[in-house]
Amino acid sequence: MKVLIATEKPFAAVAVDGMRKVIEEAGAELVLLEKYTSKQELLDAVATAEALIIRSDKVDAEVLAAAPALKVVVRAGAGYDNVDLEAATARGVCVQNTPGQNSNAVAELVFGLAVMMSRNMFNGTSGTELKDKTLGIQAFGQVGRNVARIARGFEMNVSALDPYCPDNVMEDAGVAPVHSVEELYRLNKVVSIHIPATPETRKSIGYDLIAAMPKGGLLINTARKEVIDEEGLIRALDERADLKYAADVAPERAVEIKERFGDRVFFTPKKMGAQTSEANINAGIAAARQVISFLTTGEERFRVNK
Ligand code: 3PG
Repeated sequence: MKVLIATEKPFAAVAVDGMRKVIEEAGAELVLLEKYTSKQELLDAVATAEALIIRSDKVDAEVLAAAPALKVVVRAGAGYDNVDLEAATARGVCVQNTPGQNSNAVAELVFGLAVMMSRNMFNGTSGTELKDKTLGIQAFGQVGRNVARIARGFEMNVSALDPYCPDNVMEDAGVAPVHSVEELYRLNKVVSIHIPATPETRKSIGYDLIAAMPKGGLLINTARKEVIDEEGLIRALDERADLKYAADVAPERAVEIKERFGDRVFFTPKKMGAQTSEANINAGIAAARQVISFLTTGEERFRVNK
């Protein structure tokens, strides 16, 4: 059994050690492809792999076609918009993710960004505090719930929108449910986005929502750049000098937006939300275990291509 770990943005070495242990103890062989710079390297590496562990690495129809022995792809992380599920299903490849394993890391980064933006990028001018401010969480999944937990420590007033989550689950977490996206943006000074990139959510956050935020509004995106309508974002930032935008998923037009809006916007140079050794260990080892369970027993609890 050959298990390929292919990560353009590698896991921490300690996570790879743990993954190696899980894979080798099961009698499988680990092949490591890290920091690759061309798709060809991935195409060559998958040629003999039976299992593939990835992060945001793109697994499209071409990659799947180059991997005739492939049985399972595990995305060590939550979002699997980087995998062509249809092509995988057509080839009989099981695709899985590791939900929840890196969510605390992403949630902590939300507050790193929130404090930095509220303190004007630490430029010496007087900023604002998070205490008593309103926070709206867009999607109350694993990351959203961790954001709510941390927000309690900041004494923020938290509400959330999630059509898939019953109100009582939010209420039990001390979070007020809201039932429309318009309401979420209109009512909250800070909004944190945690929706996946799907055909329905792509470009779903644009001018109307962003421009409706209260005075001094701060929008934080640690989810996916695709959910933002960049044209609308630019227009809202242009018309409302009090609005700010911070993202761990830099927009396509990041350079232009940064030049135009300066310290009112911030983008991490690389997606950093899940880049902690704890998250790498949790997600990486979960992925290795899921691969071994699938190959040895057919277990597919975390399958996402039903
Ligand atoms: C996820 O979907 O799990 C996060 O966006 C983290 O992605 P990464 O593994 O590419 O950092």
